[in-house]
Amino acid sequence: MKLKILIKEKEIKNRVKELAEEIKKDYKDKNPLLIGILKGGFMFLSDLIRNLNFPHEIDFIRVASYGSRTVSRGKVRWIMKSKTPLKQRHVLIIEDIVDTGYTLKKIYTQLKRQKPLSCRICVFLDKFDRRKVKVPLHYVGFKVPDFFLVGYGLDFNEKFRYLKDIRIIDMEEKNG
Ligand code: IMP
Ligand code: MG
Repeated sequence: MKLKILIKEKEIKNRVKELAEEIKKDYKDKNPLLIGILKGGFMFLSDLIRNLNFPHEIDFIRVASYGSRTVSRGKVRWIMKSKTPLKQRHVLIIEDIVDTGYTLKKIYTQLKRQKPLSCRICVFLDKFDRRKVKVPLHYVGFKVPDFFLVGYGLDFNEKFRYLKDIRIIDMEEKNG
């Protein structure tokens, strides 16, 4: 299986810093609650908050949308919910990648039902060509082409999450 670099570690670092600046401008006096989506969003969230030098809180939720396949089923299963009350909070959802949009759409709708003061989405990668349902993306790290990507928290069958850059996975093994 070949892996080709799409976004280098240095570019990721710079972009995360820029996003943190944008978020700071909008939230610095609001003590926002950043909700990371497990597992994929953990690395992005942890890098992001190391650049947020103002008061905020974090929590996590976990959903499963892909199983071991690389094609979305359009079904999203809740595995772990957040226990932090969202009423009176400014909520910012932190996700690794948006593809068809089903996952974020479901999360966004569910969290908004709890009537937070505001609810926005910050996504590291936007695979815009594959969108099936509309979701409002307030902060986007990079727009990416339609390839299966790994690294920086993103996995393929639970592998490659640890990679420091974003890589394209070449599924078509060419033997000889
Ligand atoms: P969506 O529901 O189709 O938007 O899929 C979003 C979820 O699928 C993300 O939270 C990821 O976990 C996973 N996903 C989508 N595209 C990729 C990819 O290229 N690499 C790894 N995971 C992906
Ligand atoms: Mg995910």
